[in-house]
Amino acid sequence: MPKLLKLLILYYSQTGNTQKMARAVEEGATLVAGVNVEVKYFARPQELVEADAVILGMPTYHHDIGIDMKRLLEEVAVKGINLKGKIGATFGSYGWSGEAPRMLLEIMENKFEMETIGPPLLAKYNPDEKNLEECRKLGKTVAERIVRANLNS
Ligand SMILES: Cc1cc2nc3c(=O)[nH]c(=O)nc-3n(C[C@H](O)[C@H](O)[C@H](O)COP(=O)(O)O)c2cc1C
Repeated sequence: MPKLLKLLILYYSQTGNTQKMARAVEEGATLVAGVNVEVKYFARPQELVEADAVILGMPTYHHDIGIDMKRLLEEVAVKGINLKGKIGATFGSYGWSGEAPRMLLEIMENKFEMETIGPPLLAKYNPDEKNLEECRKLGKTVAERIVRANLNS
């Protein structure tokens, strides 16, 4: 039986802009056959372990990453959970500086040794159709990468 491939889209959004991006990432990813796509607001470390790829969506507030995401990543690190080799990407809405998706991608790459796909996808405030199309493309690219990685393994 073929392995069930999993893509987890985990995001936070206070006023809905990053949520719109998350839905578009999901739309793109679900175009790829054989990949189970899950979109969540909160996740436990084990859910990251079970995923073949993780896409994190985070708006920038106060030049920082949201507290729930920080806690999750710190728990993963403290427990020594291995995410090495998993595919990772990030996106998020911002107003003027947009650090959060960049910081998350750095953590995925440097701390967890994930195979990251950059650069982070950013949309200024409310994502427009061009931004949403980029999000669909990102979802599709990541899902296709999982399928390809699985074929080669
Ligand atoms: C209190 C507050 C602080 C913010 N801080 C930043 C910031 O440091 N850098 C930035 O680029 N945008 C900042 N923003 C703008 C948000 O990132 C922007 O409104 C974004 O669209 C919110 O995304 P969301 O709808 O997914 O929550 C801030 C917004 C608020 C209300």
